[in-house]
Amino acid sequence: MKLTDIKTILVAGAGTMGQQTAILAAISGYRVVMYDISDEILAKGVEGIRKNGDRMVRVGVCTSDACSLALEQITTTSDIKAAAVDADLVMESIPEDPELKGKFFGAINDHCKPETIFTTNTSSLVPSMFADRSGRPDKLCALHFHDVTLSKIVDVMPHPGTSSQTMDLVKAFAESMGQIPIVLARENNGYVFNNMLMSFIGSALSLAAKGVTSIQEIDRSWMGVMHTSVGPFGIMDSIGLDTCWKVTSYWANKRNDTQAKANAAFLKGYLDKNMYGIKTGQGFYTYPDPIFSRPDFMTM
Ligand SMILES: NC(=O)c1ccc[n+]([C@@H]2O[C@H](COP(=O)([O-])OP(=O)(O)OC[C@H]3O[C@@H](n4cnc5c(N)ncnc54)[C@H](O)[C@@H]3O)[C@@H](O)[C@H]2O)c1
Repeated sequence: MKLTDIKTILVAGAGTMGQQTAILAAISGYRVVMYDISDEILAKGVEGIRKNGDRMVRVGVCTSDACSLALEQITTTSDIKAAAVDADLVMESIPEDPELKGKFFGAINDHCKPETIFTTNTSSLVPSMFADRSGRPDKLCALHFHDVTLSKIVDVMPHPGTSSQTMDLVKAFAESMGQIPIVLARENNGYVFNNMLMSFIGSALSLAAKGVTSIQEIDRSWMGVMHTSVGPFGIMDSIGLDTCWKVTSYWANKRNDTQAKANAAFLKGYLDKNMYGIKTGQGFYTYPDPIFSRPDFMTM
């Protein structure tokens, strides 16, 4: 398959990242079919796509007209067969669970064309955990996005069975959407940026979980020295505290790391109160106007 053969993208998962990747692909001229497990979830996903589209217009990724046209290119379905039948490339953004991802890729493999390329947006897993279950390991690699309104950096990462043709094609596909692919030569947990980010977030969580100081003081410290508009806790709110918790608790258990387990428990306290970050309007901060965005945050 060549880049020019890629016309229809299946975006699996209508959550935080599915919404972003769907609008990005549509703005880039691709037809998009968004798939999730229920029509109610898809309806919320479409609302989120519109909001992401508005954000992209605001930050200058595209014009308002281009965004409206792109929205018309997106259809939704909760029928896996209908989602898969025309797909040339799959961008998977379903929850961070190797079993779930393996099951999903196995299921769409039955309905997709033999040449369809599969990509996963996993943050903390690696594609080899579910590559065999996809039925086409040579055509599967990671295409991992960061927040598409803030960054154009994407990781393109193979597992040991990914073909070089798949890597070249997925790199070209990323570039066709205006992204800057960081191509990894081998599988690595957390890719490149996330590897650094997880240490940063872990360190911020440890400070808070140990009661060293408040969330606001930790963010103020980082923002004040680095001159950034957001600190580690604001970043976690934008990632989603559920995703942060899943990643933290996975590695805490795998490494039997006592402090990381305490950090996961600290995050769980927020989830138990339905505080998931920007997506629920409340996390470490309250949205849409978090106090760290106020001009007087540094001196409060
Ligand atoms: N949130 C981030 O900042 C971020 C960034 C990069 C990558 N990722 C990765 O993207 C993936 C999704 O994360 P998210 O934050 O968008 O999660 P999310 O919880 O916001 O969305 C996941 C969506 O997948 C749907 N889903 C569940 N099971 C499904 C199935 N079997 N088939 C189809 N859809 C299904 C859910 O209903 C939900 O709408 C994860 O692997 C995560 O690690 C997240």
